[in-house]
Amino acid sequence: MENKSLERFCSLLKNGRIFSENSKIKFEEIGDGNLNYVFRASTDEDGDKKSVIIKLALPYLKIAGEAWPLTVERNKIEYESLKFLSKFCGEYVPKVYLQSKEEHLFIMEDLSHMEILRKGLMNMQIYQKLAGQIGDYLAKTLYYTSDFGFDSSKKKKLAVSFDNPELCDITERLVFTDPYQDSLSNNIRPGTYPIALKLWDYDKVKVEIDALRYVFMNTPEALIHGDLHTGSIFVSKDNCKIFDSEFTFYGPISYDIGLFFANILFDLFYWEYNGRVCSIAFKQYLLSVIEDTWNSFKIKFTKLCNLNDKSYLLCKQMFVEKYLKHNLKQSIGFCACEMLRRVIGMAHVPELDAIIDNTARDIVERYCIEVAEKMLLLRNNFDEIEDFTNFVKLNI
Ligand SMILES: Nc1ncnc2c1ncn2[C@@H]1O[C@H](COP(=O)(O)OP(=O)(O)OP(=O)(O)O)[C@@H](O)[C@H]1O
Ligand SMILES: [Mg+2]
Repeated sequence: MENKSLERFCSLLKNGRIFSENSKIKFEEIGDGNLNYVFRASTDEDGDKKSVIIKLALPYLKIAGEAWPLTVERNKIEYESLKFLSKFCGEYVPKVYLQSKEEHLFIMEDLSHMEILRKGLMNMQIYQKLAGQIGDYLAKTLYYTSDFGFDSSKKKKLAVSFDNPELCDITERLVFTDPYQDSLSNNIRPGTYPIALKLWDYDKVKVEIDALRYVFMNTPEALIHGDLHTGSIFVSKDNCKIFDSEFTFYGPISYDIGLFFANILFDLFYWEYNGRVCSIAFKQYLLSVIEDTWNSFKIKFTKLCNLNDKSYLLCKQMFVEKYLKHNLKQSIGFCACEMLRRVIGMAHVPELDAIIDNTARDIVERYCIEVAEKMLLLRNNFDEIEDFTNFVKLNI
């Protein structure tokens, strides 16, 4: 890091009264992501340890350099979304302290004492409260930012202020377009190539992807996270924090739900095929995370809707039930898109990368594609979350 940047960070931290005027600040780069720079700034004065996180965006992708330009607006959008979400689900997002719009950075709470969910699940850790917390976060996000619980004209204005076309374009290309054709951005292992070729010819599946892309692009329903995988979640025994929300925009809540489900399924695939011993109880736990997340989301969202006596809905209870059923099917559709793109598309997941045996990896990737195809074609048959988890038990 350049000295000039360090000096600037120091003055922001001191002027913002995050650290005192005479503190000696230590910086370390901790970011392991692809897009941005993430630093920890810490002080230790007479045993009084303090630390914060600085997230900085440059006008390009960190991993690709200047060859891949990307708007710095993403930093402002992430900061604004965390600030907005803190009003009604502050327990689930990192606290933000200050922002420098000119320098495309913001400063937030250090969550290093927690664990990234993906790492925890790859170490067979069980988090008893996780499903209830994610369900609650999804229910509150949906209720408080959508027409169910938010003033409709304020909602329309908020949707405009969270317009995020460049980052949505990345999702539209990397999740909904490139993996379904022979694109340069794809990252396909030789053993998986013949199955990808078959998928590119499978119009019945591709039309479902088109339909889901259309939903993603045309459903300004709630302020969704937009990239809710298990690497965007910090967990501990009692707490859960959702971070890295730069892909946020007004979109379909089922996209967040589907991504979360898919990333839990990757852990199931990992524990079935990585050759390490895994207890049946842990595999059951992973399935219960999917079931319990959905059920807690459903119960909490319905409760919030029932609290709202200002609703203009004519048959509220019936509509909420119908809406949730529809969303379950749509979430399963988005779950399938995430599964396909993580095998065929540019960005893979650590769970599958960690399967070192090539034959096992070929089998897993084939199953991922085949299961995802079935999910896309059969998703309208899943009326309850248990229908889905039973399907998973039979097919993984
Ligand atoms: N508030 C925080 N507290 C502690 N560590 C953090 C915090 N925010 C980010 N990190 C660390 O930095 C890493 C990268 O952060 P983040 O995922 O936000 O960056 P990114 O560049 O946007 O990544 P991606 O390529 O996944 O979009 C995280 O995996 C985590 O280890
Ligand atoms: Mg990010």
